[in-house]
Amino acid sequence: MTARILDGKAIAAALRARLATDIAALPFTPGLAVVLVGDDPASAVYVRAKDRAAAAAGIAAQTIRLPAATTEAALLAEIARLNADPAVDGILVQLPLPAPIRAAAVIAAIDPAKDVDGFHAVNVGRLAGGDASGLVPCTPRGVMLMLEQAGIAVAGARAIVLGRSAIVGRPMAALLLAADATVTIAHSRSRDLPALCRMAEIVIAATGRAEMVRGDWIAPGAAVIDVGINRLADGRLVGDCAYEECAAMAGAITPVPGGVGPMTIACLLGNTVQAAKARRS
Ligand code: GUN
Repeated sequence: MTARILDGKAIAAALRARLATDIAALPFTPGLAVVLVGDDPASAVYVRAKDRAAAAAGIAAQTIRLPAATTEAALLAEIARLNADPAVDGILVQLPLPAPIRAAAVIAAIDPAKDVDGFHAVNVGRLAGGDASGLVPCTPRGVMLMLEQAGIAVAGARAIVLGRSAIVGRPMAALLLAADATVTIAHSRSRDLPALCRMAEIVIAATGRAEMVRGDWIAPGAAVIDVGINRLADGRLVGDCAYEECAAMAGAITPVPGGVGPMTIACLLGNTVQAAKARRS
């Protein structure tokens, strides 16, 4: 079987264009504040991309850059200021944060109504309770949109999520369950991952381990969604799935790059619009 390639770049571009039209018709300008603490180079790249995409869609985007030596108290004060700013609809604090700042304390300080990452316990709890209509994490939301766009039926399907992170694996599993999939969450302690994987019609790989998922883990015709982005020693960018092997088995597969990655930012814009509409209605 030759897998259909799910073009995240195209799906994300269409979503961004739709959002820009939607935003232009609003009687207000949604505001997004992105907070970057320290000088992690990868984070700087992500934050710049988020800021640019937001501005291009017509969102009033601001990036707040704070030095690595910023204290937790100073960061919490900055978040309090953004919580109180009526022009700010969405707040995103880029992770990871430099030590000794506690990410959990920072996330807890964000107004849940402005939590466009969907990381606050209020939003996590809402999703865990089966309500996917609130602010949910951007990458898993992007995966669900890709499945929908590709016409891949989720209800009743056997889905496996490889990885249990708070940012991807756990909310991904909750979204799939809310959409009536039969969901397995597998992780580094799971026994016989290949056999578990082979039972799935939808495989979501979010392990952070380069090319870990092999072709013989994939059931013929399964949909393979690769959330991973890993830089190899030779400079190549690869996912968590061995692409050629998995594509030979799968019915549909996302490339890396150009698969899930572009969807994350598009969904951040979507979450910002959603938060703005909810706050200002
Ligand atoms: N770092 C890596 N992914 C993310 C994300 O989705 N949101 C934030 N805030 N930080 C991240």
